[in-house]
Amino acid sequence: MSYLVAANWKMNKTVGETLEYLDLFLPSVKELTKVEIMIAPPFTALSSASIRLDAARKEGEYNVKLGAQNMFYEEKGAFTGEISPLMLSELEVDYVIIGHSERRHKFGEKDSLINKKVISAVEHGIRPILCVGETLEEREQGKTLSVVERQIRSGLSGVERDMIYIDIAYEPVWAIGTGVNATPEQAQEVHRFIRSLINEISKGNDSKTRILYGGSVNEKNARELIKEKNIDGFLVGTASLDPERFYRIITEVMEV
Ligand code: 13P
Repeated sequence: MSYLVAANWKMNKTVGETLEYLDLFLPSVKELTKVEIMIAPPFTALSSASIRLDAARKEGEYNVKLGAQNMFYEEKGAFTGEISPLMLSELEVDYVIIGHSERRHKFGEKDSLINKKVISAVEHGIRPILCVGETLEEREQGKTLSVVERQIRSGLSGVERDMIYIDIAYEPVWAIGTGVNATPEQAQEVHRFIRSLINEISKGNDSKTRILYGGSVNEKNARELIKEKNIDGFLVGTASLDPERFYRIITEVMEV
């Protein structure tokens, strides 16, 4: 299982800015191996990014994977403003981020909806990255592990045997976009717990499931975090918006 370093650009970058970024970024990672790289631009830039990544692949450049930041679970219908798995598959999207904390807390997504999206992604051959994580209040009340357990058990309900097609991201809400990352010890405690949980629910069929850490990852803290045994990569927000900073995070991961 190789490390996965994924960029979640959130609601940032136009099509023009996406292509500019890729023109700078793709040559820099040409020689890199060992690490899987994924970029999740906004929906509007997916098509252009897909064409650019495909061209890079054909030119023998690094195989950077494409991700979407969200997805609805139905294939089509009267769901104004939503994007379906068929639409993502057509653009050769490899990954989809599901249940990001901003979807949960700013758009009210519940575990049951998130579960339907995870199931649909797996059914359509798009690898979901299920995001989980506690708020500051929940951490202070000592509820971190119980919140994460609930999010994982309900998010994965019905796909427990399909864990080889799923990755998890632990993103403590208090660490997202705040500049305050979880310490390696704090992250390790939760990652170890998640590993044992998915091992239990998948009956050991989780060997390909990576547990990513997300929350203020940058080029300075990446190395100490990735050294932890159960941290299998990163989901990076702010620092991934700059191609040089994202590249440096990837090289920190490669050195381990
Ligand atoms: P930041 O890296 O900006 O904290 O965002 C993390 C995140 O939400 C990635 O999905």
